[in-house]
Amino acid sequence: MFTTNLFYNNGKDIEFNDPRDRYAITGDITDKGAYKATTLRNISLMGPYMHDGRYETLDEVIEFYSHQVKMSPYVNPLMHYAGEGGVQLTPTEKAELKAFIFTLQDEAFLNNPDFSPPAVFPDGSTYQQVAGKYLQN
Ligand code: HEM
Repeated sequence: MFTTNLFYNNGKDIEFNDPRDRYAITGDITDKGAYKATTLRNISLMGPYMHDGRYETLDEVIEFYSHQVKMSPYVNPLMHYAGEGGVQLTPTEKAELKAFIFTLQDEAFLNNPDFSPPAVFPDGSTYQQVAGKYLQN
């Protein structure tokens, strides 16, 4: 599923007082600033990104992992280059990473009618009415 389903602090911030982070649930100090790593399947269609939607585009996310990672006592050790501000991708590597992420777009899943909203909900409203402002033209 392109995720571990685990919780990590991926180095976005240096201050942690969010009542919605993993620490708020577990009380474990190592969970400060940690959030669930979402699946990368179809992630190219799922912006804005991160728990607070701070990045509008995948380019911004890749820029973050490349050059804007912030070191703190709570950053997960998997963020190996946190001390250097990120993995320092070249423009070519960023483009290749983005192209790879686009390969995780799952057309069969996206177009499977079994996962489509019903034409009419039990209360008579339609998906268009419920989700209208989120739908793209
Ligand atoms: C360069 C490699 C990586 C890429 C391309 C990548 C991509 C992404 C993307 C696109 C999101 C946004 C998901 C969403 O908004 O639904 C995300 C979130 C996240 N990633 Fe990564 N990731 C990478 C490396 C890592 C690593 C190594 C970790 C583990 C330490 C990690 C942990 C997380 C977590 C915990 C979130 C959720 C953060 C939040 O909700 O604020 N990622 N990642």
